[in-house]
Amino acid sequence: MRLRDKVAIVTGAGSGIGAAAAVAMAAEGARVLVADINEAGAKATVQRIEGARGQAIALTADVTRAADNQALVERATAAWGRLDVFFANAGVPQWKTDVEEVDEKTFDTIFDVNVKGVYLGAKYALPVMKRAGRGVFLITASTAAIRPRPGGQIYAASKGAVVTLAKALALEAAPHGVRVVAIAPVATHTPMLPTFMGKQQVDAEGLARYEQTVPLGRLNQPEDIAHAAVFLASDEAAMITGSVLEVDGGRCI
Ligand SMILES: NC(=O)c1ccc[n+]([C@@H]2O[C@H](COP(=O)([O-])OP(=O)(O)OC[C@H]3O[C@@H](n4cnc5c(N)ncnc54)[C@H](O)[C@@H]3O)[C@@H](O)[C@H]2O)c1
Repeated sequence: MRLRDKVAIVTGAGSGIGAAAAVAMAAEGARVLVADINEAGAKATVQRIEGARGQAIALTADVTRAADNQALVERATAAWGRLDVFFANAGVPQWKTDVEEVDEKTFDTIFDVNVKGVYLGAKYALPVMKRAGRGVFLITASTAAIRPRPGGQIYAASKGAVVTLAKALALEAAPHGVRVVAIAPVATHTPMLPTFMGKQQVDAEGLARYEQTVPLGRLNQPEDIAHAAVFLASDEAAMITGSVLEVDGGRCI
């Protein structure tokens, strides 16, 4: 059990990558606060964890709200007495489109969730971790931060912002024994995938177009990122901070 006795909060854990990470962390012994704006999704993830004899609590939270981030940290520490991992994973995609077609509301929403949401998670989680002298703050960035595709410029910029935020926070947290790491997945089979492709649903053309750009020849399953998150959250990654781990089958080479 690589996360035995640890307590983790995972945002966006009602679906896709966050759900897989919450399940994987619980399987490695962590008690997991499953947070999502989608209450039903969060509850479904908790059911999966409990079905495998793990421990989890569902909490409905909007990561763009300071009070909700504060409540996440307070609930986890009240329930389990500590906080070891905060996985700032919640995010929203961008419909594939040229910049002249992007309205301000779309820009604001993407930056609110993908950037402000991460800042607010750090604002409330890092002080608890710093006081304890241990902890790991993980962020789901994207290969879009490193190697964007055409038509996703605002999303790519939001993920670039959190890569830089991870590095800056890592410096701030390091003297306190706290690590901060960004994970950069390539396109992943989750409900978000068709939006990136500019499709209502993934079809053979979109899939082939994306897979051709990945040297290993396939896209991620959510579990590919979950495994990386478990490793980074564990003490096996004790010397990894400020890094961006590409989980991308070689896409960023
Ligand atoms: N799927 C991909 O191809 C891909 C690739 C690279 C990075 N990512 C990133 O991975 C992360 C997870 O996405 P996913 O692919 O699992 O998609 P997903 O749609 O399956 O999951 C995203 C979850 O975030 C939740 N969420 C959205 N806004 C929220 C808010 N304001 N507060 C709380 N929760 C909120 C949604 O309800 C959903 O459950 C995101 O940050 C995304 O940008 C995804």
